[in-house]
Amino acid sequence: MSSTLTEITDELTSLVAAAEEDIGAVADAKALEAWRIKYLGKKARLTVLSREMGSLDADERPAAGKALNEAKAQVEALFDAKKADLAKPAAAAPAIDTTLPGRRPSAGDIHPITKVYYEVRDFFLRLGFGIWYGPEAEDDFHNFGALNFPEDHPSRDEQDTFYLNDGLLLRTHTSPVQIRAMQAEKPPLRIIVPGRCFRSDAPDATHYPVFHQVEGLYVDRAVSLAELKGTLEAMGVYLFGAGTEMRFRPHFFPFTEPSAEVDFTCPRCGGAVCSVCHDGWVEVLGAGMVDPAVFENVGYDPEEWVGYAFGVGIERLAMIKYGITDIRYFYENDLRFIKQFK
Ligand code: PHE
Repeated sequence: MSSTLTEITDELTSLVAAAEEDIGAVADAKALEAWRIKYLGKKARLTVLSREMGSLDADERPAAGKALNEAKAQVEALFDAKKADLAKPAAAAPAIDTTLPGRRPSAGDIHPITKVYYEVRDFFLRLGFGIWYGPEAEDDFHNFGALNFPEDHPSRDEQDTFYLNDGLLLRTHTSPVQIRAMQAEKPPLRIIVPGRCFRSDAPDATHYPVFHQVEGLYVDRAVSLAELKGTLEAMGVYLFGAGTEMRFRPHFFPFTEPSAEVDFTCPRCGGAVCSVCHDGWVEVLGAGMVDPAVFENVGYDPEEWVGYAFGVGIERLAMIKYGITDIRYFYENDLRFIKQFK
C-alpha cells in the first residue's frame, strides 16, 4: 500500500462528509439499508481501508488506525441516529382541515322495550291512571309476604329469586309496588308501575334474568272483573290493532282472586298459527281481582274496597309486536338491531 498517513486522513474526512450528506436524503428503512451497505458494508471503502491497515509502515499504523476508528464511529453514529429517527411515529398531521365537510352526529333511537312501554303507558294515562315507581332492591314483605305468598311458595326459592344482603332481594315482579302505593295512598287508587324485574333464569330465547313489567292497580268502591276485561281488551286493540280478540284462562296468583292469564289473538298471523304464537294466541299478562288478604295487609278495608290488578311483560309484548324470536337481542345493544324499530 502506497498511501501516506495524510492521504488516509484526508480520505476519511471526505468519506464522513459524503456519508453525512447522503444520509440527509434517506427517508425510509430501505434507503437506510442501501446507505449502510454503501458506507459500512463489506465492500465499503471504510471496510477496505481497515483491511489494508496492515500494509502501512509500522510507525504510521497507530495514528492511521485511530483516525479510521474515529471515522467509523462517526459513520455508525449517523446510522444509529437515522434509525432512531425513522422508528419515531410520524409527526401529527396538521391540526384541522377546514375544507372537509362536517360530520353528521348520529341520532339516538328509542329502544324497542322503551317504545312498547310508552305505548302501554300512553294507553293507561288516557284512562286516567297515574304512574308509580318502586325500588328494585326489595324486602321479602313487599315482594312476597304482603302479596299473600305462603312461606313455602316455590317462587321464593333461590332458583327464582336473587337474594341480596341485609334481607333484601331483587324484586321478581312489579307487584311489590302495589303494596308500597297502597301503604302510601288512601283509596281510590288507579296506577301503573313500570320497572325492571329479576329472576335467576338461565338466558335462552324466551328467558332473561332481567326483564320489564308494567303493573296495573285499580282500587275503588265498585271495580268489577268485567271492567278489567274491558280495559285489557281495549289495551289489546290499542297495541295490536282492530280485530284483536282476548281470552282469560283461569290461573293462580297468591295476590289476586280470581286470577287469570290473558291471551290475545296473535297479531302476526291473525290467529292462524305462526312461529310467534304456535296456536294462534299469545300470552302477555297475568291479572285478577285483588285478594282481600292483600287489602288487609296494607290497611284497606276489604269490605269497602275492591280492585283489579294486572302485570304485563314488556319483552313479551315487544317480541310479539315486532316478531322478535329471541329475547337476548334486547340486551345485546347491537345498533343494527335497535335501529330497526323507528
Ligand atoms: N306479578 C305477576 C307475575 O309477575 C303478574 C300479575 C300482576 C298477576 C298483577 C296478577 C296481578 O307473574
